[in-house]
Amino acid sequence: PLPLAIYPDRPNSRGVEFGDRLQLASLMEGMERSSAPVAATPLAPGLKGGGEQEIFSPSDPSLHVGSVRFTDPKDVDKAVSTALQGFKSWSRTDPGLRAAALERAADLIEDRRDRFMALLSNEAGKTLDDGIAEIREAVDFLRYYAARSREMFSQMQPMPGPTGEENRLGWRGRGVFVCISPWNFPLAIFLGQVSAALAAGNAVIAKPAEQTSLVAHEAVCLLHEAGVPKDVLLCLPGEGDVGAALTSHPKIGGVAFTGSTETARAINRTLAAKDGPIVPFIAETGGLNAMIVDATALAEQVADDVVMSAFRSAGQRCSALRLLFVQDDVADHMLEMIEGAARELKLGDPSKPSTDIGPVIDEAQREMLAGHIAAISKTQKLVYAGEAPGEGLFFAPHIVELKEASALDREIFGPVLHVVRYKAKKLDAVLDAIDATGFGLTLGVHSRIEATVRKVIDRLDTGNVYVNRNIIGAVVGTQPFGGSGLSGTGFKAGGPHYLMRFAVEQAVSVNT
Ligand code: SER
Repeated sequence: PLPLAIYPDRPNSRGVEFGDRLQLASLMEGMERSSAPVAATPLAPGLKGGGEQEIFSPSDPSLHVGSVRFTDPKDVDKAVSTALQGFKSWSRTDPGLRAAALERAADLIEDRRDRFMALLSNEAGKTLDDGIAEIREAVDFLRYYAARSREMFSQMQPMPGPTGEENRLGWRGRGVFVCISPWNFPLAIFLGQVSAALAAGNAVIAKPAEQTSLVAHEAVCLLHEAGVPKDVLLCLPGEGDVGAALTSHPKIGGVAFTGSTETARAINRTLAAKDGPIVPFIAETGGLNAMIVDATALAEQVADDVVMSAFRSAGQRCSALRLLFVQDDVADHMLEMIEGAARELKLGDPSKPSTDIGPVIDEAQREMLAGHIAAISKTQKLVYAGEAPGEGLFFAPHIVELKEASALDREIFGPVLHVVRYKAKKLDAVLDAIDATGFGLTLGVHSRIEATVRKVIDRLDTGNVYVNRNIIGAVVGTQPFGGSGLSGTGFKAGGPHYLMRFAVEQAVSVNT
């Protein structure tokens, strides 16, 4: 996949590092913090929608971003019928033409990056770094899945067989795919799911997170403009009741979901109980992601990578670092460096170049985080509590030292780092503790001892392992992303096998 053309000298889109901000800010001159309010309605032919609500920016309660008219769940049946009609022609459309529409959409996003930066900042509280990285990831998904679908879908693959028989294997779409996406990557994950389903020949009904309906609405309008027919891609903004009506509908062909493990379980139960065909469920959920730092690690690099992994994006990434295991011989020094780096982070207006960390998404998240700190600091040691600005939904980085890893029994989705000290001889116990969480999304190891690194990789089935670096920002086509166990079903997003889950296989055997 090609990265955005902003840095043509970069080999791939690793995201923009903190140091590039001034250059970024000048590139984003066209970005208007108070761009005209957007109105989102269900993008489904013939649907008027239900209740309307106003959206204000999480970083500035006085900034009116737009309004959204949620879908009436009673209209879901009509939307599925429309998409089934669309599926008939889209599934038989030349795969090259489908891919070309996605590539046109990628070009349009690049052209309108200022507009998307403004929306990502205003509606989702994304900083400049996060906004640009997200746009690059969205573009990469579109181009990567377009390229993969050309390879997979354009012609049937010859299979071996006896003389006088011709055997071939092909892939095609499953029907109406329901894509339910999260608020933390309202453009990249949203378009990743949607473009994969479309590339594989499915019609799509997208249900974006209710907090970020406007970004999703804009992206779907853009895909329509790029050539995806309106009855092939429908967007139904709404709350959980819309998602529930979609996943329980007997005529859907599959579900792609990114969000909490709890919601994934509920969807799984719904799919098991519903009438109609047995359909695939692709879930990418959370993580209780760990990093192991031994005495051979480079302290400066550890401080950088820990702060980046735990606090960037206000910790609102499923890949973010939650549990840091530090060898006790070096723990005091490492913690001092990490705390020092955390103190330097600037929270505030996400559209300003000087801002490192923007707001959390909503009041419920902020309350959850404050409640967690209040509860855990009764029994564990609160090492560092940053200060949040008064206005806006901010939650500052916190560091908590745990007596043992089991004191953290769930994913805390925000900028809270939990630290556990371990003795060099007890590495196996650390690996057991990570295994015992049941999650398996990302894992970091900082060590210069090859045998240690190998042991960690061999022992754990974590989906994405990062050695001597940070653990966030997987690059499409380079670091296929996704976990196992409580973290998801696979196949990995941005990887070579992802499209297969969206397709049915057909084997044709001809007696020649
Ligand atoms: N794919 C993102 C990352 O790697 C998380 O959702 O950070």
